[in-house]
Amino acid sequence: MDLKRKLYYSFSPRLRFLVRKIYYTPIDIYEKIFGLKDDLSPPKGMTFIGSGDFKKTGDHYLQMLITDCGLLPSHKILDIGCGIGRLAVPLTAYISKEGSYEGFDIVRQGIEWCKDKISKKFPNFNFTHIDLRNELYNLETDTTSAEFTFPYEDHSFDIVIATSLFTHMLPKDTERYVQEVSRLLKLNGKFLCTFFILNEVSKIAMKNNLHFNFQHIRGNYSLMDEKVKEANIAYEENYLNAMFSKNSLKIDKLTYGYWSGSNMIEKKEFQDTYVCSSVKTA
Ligand SMILES: C[S@@+](CC[C@H](N)C(=O)[O-])C[C@H]1O[C@@H](n2cnc3c(N)ncnc32)[C@H](O)[C@@H]1O
Repeated sequence: MDLKRKLYYSFSPRLRFLVRKIYYTPIDIYEKIFGLKDDLSPPKGMTFIGSGDFKKTGDHYLQMLITDCGLLPSHKILDIGCGIGRLAVPLTAYISKEGSYEGFDIVRQGIEWCKDKISKKFPNFNFTHIDLRNELYNLETDTTSAEFTFPYEDHSFDIVIATSLFTHMLPKDTERYVQEVSRLLKLNGKFLCTFFILNEVSKIAMKNNLHFNFQHIRGNYSLMDEKVKEANIAYEENYLNAMFSKNSLKIDKLTYGYWSGSNMIEKKEFQDTYVCSSVKTA
C-alpha cells in the first residue's frame, strides 16, 4: 500500500470529510462562480465516494445495468450504498414515472444532498440514511450491518445494485446483505455487484502491485490495511460463489477488473463485477 493511501486511511471519517472539503474549496468556488457545474453534480469537496469522473462513472454503471441486467424505464431498482447519487443522477433521465429508485447509505451528507437535489425534482427517487458502523465511513454508531434488515418488502425489486460497497464490508455484514438482496429480488430479478476477487490470477498479479494489494490474509478474505479493516477488503472467489449459491443467486456473468494489475490493457473495469439472477421461487 502506498504512503498517501496509508495516511488517508489513518484519518477519522470526520477528518477525511473536512480535509477533502478544504482541499477542494478553491475549485468548487471557481466552478460555482463560472457556472461550470450543473445542479445534479455534487461539489468535489462533498464527493466522498472515490476518485474518477463522477458523470462518466455514473453513465457507465447505467449502461452496464441496461446491457447486462436488462434494466427498463419501468423497473424498480435498489442502490445499496448509494453514496452521493453517482448512479441515481443518470438514472433520473432513464427511469420513467412507472418505475422507481430507492437508495440507502450510512453517510448522512450524501443522502441529504441526494434528497435535496434529486428527490425534490424526481419524487419517484427516494433516499434513506441508515446509521450503521463502518470503519472507513461512519464511527458514530456501534450498530453493525449484520443486524440490519433492509426497510423494503419481499420480492419488491427488479434490480439491485451495489457498486464498490462490499469492497468495504467484512464477511458477516456482506453475508447479511446478500441474504437481504435475495429476499428483496423478484424471481429472475438481477443483482449487479462489485468485489475485489482473490483467485490464482489476481494473487500472482497482486504480488507485483506495490500500490494496491491485500497482504493481510484472514481466511476467506484479505485486508489492505490491518488497522482500518473496512478500508478495502478482497474475497476468495470460491467463498463468494458459495455465498451466492446459498442465497439462490445464479451467476450469469463475472467480469474481472484490473485492480490487481493483471491484464490492465484488455480489462475495462477496475473492480470485479458479478451479475446474478434470483432463482428463488418461494
Ligand atoms: C466507494 S463508495 C461507493 C458509492 C456508490 N455505490 C458509488 O458507486 O458511487 C462506498 C459507499 O458504501 C457506503 N457504505 C459502507 N458501508 C455501508 C453499509 N453497511 N450499508 C450501506 N452503505 C454502506 C459508504 O457510505 C459509501 O457511500
